[in-house]
Amino acid sequence: MRFDDMSANQFGDDFYRRISALIYDRTGLSFNESSRFFLEKRLETRISSLGMTMPEDYISFLMFDGDSEREWDALITLITTNETYFMREERQLKCFREDILPELARKNPGKKIRVWSAGCSSGEEPYSIAILARECRHVTDQMIEIFATDINSRVIQRAKDGIYGDSSFRAVDEAFKLRWFVPEGQQKWKLKEEIRKKVTFQRFNLFDMDRYSIFAPFDVIFCRNVIIYFDLEAKVRVVERFYDKLAEGGYLLLGHSESLISVTEKFRLVHLANDLVYRKEIR
Ligand SMILES: C[S@@+](CC[C@H](N)C(=O)[O-])C[C@H]1O[C@@H](n2cnc3c(N)ncnc32)[C@H](O)[C@@H]1O
Repeated sequence: MRFDDMSANQFGDDFYRRISALIYDRTGLSFNESSRFFLEKRLETRISSLGMTMPEDYISFLMFDGDSEREWDALITLITTNETYFMREERQLKCFREDILPELARKNPGKKIRVWSAGCSSGEEPYSIAILARECRHVTDQMIEIFATDINSRVIQRAKDGIYGDSSFRAVDEAFKLRWFVPEGQQKWKLKEEIRKKVTFQRFNLFDMDRYSIFAPFDVIFCRNVIIYFDLEAKVRVVERFYDKLAEGGYLLLGHSESLISVTEKFRLVHLANDLVYRKEIR
């Protein structure tokens, strides 16, 4: 079937099965029948902007073209959901500042506390972490290292720029904005350099299993509202890697709608003063 013969949401079943399998193998993102309309709409836009008339040509392009890496990058920016905002899931962040950070600082004096925001989108999560660390009287700037990664290169660039609009501030008050940001043009705010410089951003695909070796162990991994887009098998693979990358006694913080039930029994669910969190046992 030619692409220009079709209206939206009318790719053939075979094409949809093949393209969603390709995307899954690459990213872990699971597009089933219920997300078919979403994915087909984005593919339709992308394929026609490339001037292709046969959808199958797009599959060959992704698989074999010398420029396929660049195309994957473009496709990923279209199909990932990047919704995020400052101080999202506040109770858990309070737990990080008031329970986890003081404990880590007390137990390993002199050792840097390493934190990873995995699937950081445009940076609101890791920058919230950096601000919370700044507010925690048990740690100094020198005691903490924050890494932040995402598969989507466009959001990583936005995170590095550190410029935000209203929707990023939906869960914080005006005092927060005035304390940590300066006005930037029309209705935008730029995060102060003192916080921006605390976070190291890098593009990283959580489904790229061979690349985890680039990271030294972490004390805390935040992976919130990311694995909800994975199927069970992908969740298992990624969470196993998190387990390997956590120091003993380290914490894994998932989104509140996410759990490790039927994913793995390796972590212990612990009740800290402010929240329930997953922890890698100390052997
Ligand atoms: C909904 S956002 C969550 C952002 C933030 N963690 C929060 O809770 O506010 C999900 C992010 O996961 C990223 N993501 C999806 N699949 C990924 C993968 N395989 N590797 C790395 N990041 C991925 C998306 O690009 C997106 O920015």
